[in-house]
Amino acid sequence: MLEDKFGRRFHYLRLSITDVCNFRCSYCLPDGYQCDTPRDFLSLGEITTVVRAFAELGTSKIRITGGEPSLRKDLPQIIERCASTPGIKQVAITTNGYKLPQMINSWVDAGLTNLNVSIDSLDPRQFHAITGHDKLQTILQGVEQALALGLKVKINSVLLKPYSKELLSTALAWLKDKPLALRLIELMETGDNHDFFNANHLSGQPIKEQLLAQGWQQSQRDIAAGPAQEFSHPDYQGRLGLIMPYSKDFCASCNRLRVSATGNLHLCLFAEQGLPLRPLLADGDVAALKEKLAALLGKKEASHWLHDGFTGATKQLAMLGG
Ligand code: 5AD
Ligand code: SF4
Repeated sequence: MLEDKFGRRFHYLRLSITDVCNFRCSYCLPDGYQCDTPRDFLSLGEITTVVRAFAELGTSKIRITGGEPSLRKDLPQIIERCASTPGIKQVAITTNGYKLPQMINSWVDAGLTNLNVSIDSLDPRQFHAITGHDKLQTILQGVEQALALGLKVKINSVLLKPYSKELLSTALAWLKDKPLALRLIELMETGDNHDFFNANHLSGQPIKEQLLAQGWQQSQRDIAAGPAQEFSHPDYQGRLGLIMPYSKDFCASCNRLRVSATGNLHLCLFAEQGLPLRPLLADGDVAALKEKLAALLGKKEASHWLHDGFTGATKQLAMLGG
């Protein structure tokens, strides 16, 4: 099992397969994707080697991220490769959802078990203002299809100052009879969004207090759970989660590692640099890669330095899929 010097275990890999995205979320790619570097993303064969090595080191969950992963035509094959790797029990994807209605059946057929969809507002006008796309209805239709197919569905919503009040009230009404988990994520500062961050960041703490006052109960944390704080309520089918990366001890429950679309290992979302794995991927040498991963893990630090304004190498999260 991959374990670091702080006793944290890593059974969860977030694997980015492209950094291209067709949305223009105001906190991430406000001017759209800029094609200023060659798009030389990991091939299906290279991905297979990465997944095998991680699985042999105890990883049981893979989350496929982007950019927008559904922009890759071989996504169903990638899902299938992950799902058929011995040791991998959950295959998840994080998507902006624009292709959900067309694609969800093929993803489930390939072995997808969990779906995360990013929806920052349930108001079509606000959704358009945030993402640059008028796609809310299509995405919500895809979410319904995914629930009908029996997938575990989570919705990610980034808390943005101008929209948060309305987001919380519409989200709560939606969760009343929808068996999904909604995650409210505090906006994070990245290399590219400094001014936007300062103008729009909102702490999740007052929301937590409001939820507790309204009868929501914080769930006991599973040791294997990640850094989200989860809440449930007897009158609601849905669950709520808060992701507060600026809160104390957020990093203590870190259980994830990240590999970028070009094959760099990121020990933290906000690490100073990615560590290149690609030279080891060309000839599919799983044993060599395992050795390298175990050695690199020794460099993982206890916490990020976001409180001090150090955002590391992450210019925006499209690079790494959050
Ligand atoms: N802060 C918080 N969340 C972000 N995401 C992208 N950029 C940021 C940021 N700066 C979210 C997306 C998506 C998930 C992958 O990460 O909205 O839900
Ligand atoms: Fe695309 Fe996700 Fe960035 Fe939005 S947050 S622009 S959907 S990569």
